[in-house]
Amino acid sequence: MAEESQLHHRAGRQGAAAGSPAPAHLLEMRRAALRVCLLVLAALGRPGAGSEHDEEHDGEDLSHSPEKGPGHSHWSYEEREHWGEDYPDCAGTLQSPINIDMSRTIFSPQLRPIQLSGYSLPAKEKLRLRNNGHTVQLDLPESLAITGGYAQQYRAVQLHLHWGSLSGRGSEHTINGHRFAAEIHVVHYNSKYDSFNEAMVHPDGLAVLAAFLEVGPRENPYYQEILEHLYKIQGEGEEVWVPGFNIEGLLPANLKFYLHYNGSLTTPPCYQTVKWTIFNQTMLLSHDQMSTLVMTLRNDDNKPLQNNYRPVQGLHRRQVLSSFQTTAKQLPPGNEGSTATEGHTSSSFHAGDVLAVLFGVLFAITALAFLLYILKHRSQNTRLDSPGKSKVIYTAATTENTA
Ligand SMILES: *[C@@H]1O[C@H](CO)[C@@H](O)[C@H](O)[C@H]1NC(C)=O
Ligand SMILES: *[C@@H]1O[C@H](CO)[C@@H](O)[C@H](O)[C@H]1NC(C)=O
Ligand SMILES: [Zn+2]
Repeated sequence: MAEESQLHHRAGRQGAAAGSPAPAHLLEMRRAALRVCLLVLAALGRPGAGSEHDEEHDGEDLSHSPEKGPGHSHWSYEEREHWGEDYPDCAGTLQSPINIDMSRTIFSPQLRPIQLSGYSLPAKEKLRLRNNGHTVQLDLPESLAITGGYAQQYRAVQLHLHWGSLSGRGSEHTINGHRFAAEIHVVHYNSKYDSFNEAMVHPDGLAVLAAFLEVGPRENPYYQEILEHLYKIQGEGEEVWVPGFNIEGLLPANLKFYLHYNGSLTTPPCYQTVKWTIFNQTMLLSHDQMSTLVMTLRNDDNKPLQNNYRPVQGLHRRQVLSSFQTTAKQLPPGNEGSTATEGHTSSSFHAGDVLAVLFGVLFAITALAFLLYILKHRSQNTRLDSPGKSKVIYTAATTENTA
């Protein structure tokens, strides 16, 4: 830990000496230096450190008991314990949703901001809105795409929601065990495949953007574009064509802060082919809007369509990556500073890392020089000291101070 703080100061001082303009840069570099240091410590230390990422939140894990299931092809949330019988993937080890323990997420500076294109649709373009008995689904044209943040391009197919009831929350994912009121899923498929159906069976086939919905003080005009039509599609299988609007408005303004993991569809057939993005910023709906969402639709039994969420699944050996630093006091991403500053900060993550490695190497060289100096000093002491040689020693000490 002594080395840690030394590295810390070294990186900080050197950053200032290099004429870095903003104090934000300094903090970044210090954090980067700390990360490098922790990495080195981890590499040096425990070789069997893999257990650190073992699952912990299997409280609600499905027990796939061998009891006889109902065996019909039409699935329901009541029979979710038996999905695995008709749809084997539902009993897999890469299932969604999951609980996300923020303290176990891994900061990954390579996770760039999500970029969307074509999400703003003109009112004259009509979209199908449908009650499919499990959720309300808005079909999206293929012109909508994720063009940044993922390694490949993904085209939009549809979006839908998961919710609870008047008395209970109903998001699918949970954060530190906390369930949110509702959750939106915008489903995309990898554009290297010809269709959603082809893509959904491949490991890199699907990308789902998810955000949590909470009750806030104001009506949300974007969600209203969907909610105002729900009364027309109360029964299962009913649909209506609604005017296009800016679909991006259904997602947070901040697309930089998110969590990422590999998982599955949360409904049968539960294919384990979804790269999940869960935004840190939550969406706000008015109390009335949330009531409309949970009270209007009916399911295939003609009962209120409510609590259409799947319990959290075992994490097994998966990791959840974070595009932002969860431990840093400076970044509670809920309250945002100016966007310009944020952009600046996130782009300096990379430079900070490079500098940290550089200073780490310099530090190592200095330490080595110091070691050599001591060794030399010792061997000289065993011989007889000569004034000429002490000059050499002096030079070595100088080298250390300038590194
Ligand atoms: C997801 O799976 C891909 C392919 O196996 C792998 O390269 C990637 O590291 C995984 N991502 C995470 C967050 O584990
Ligand atoms: C957002 O990030 C903060 C800071 O790490 C965390 O406390 C909060 O639970 C996160 N919320 C979501 C929805 O990810
Ligand atoms: Zn969903």
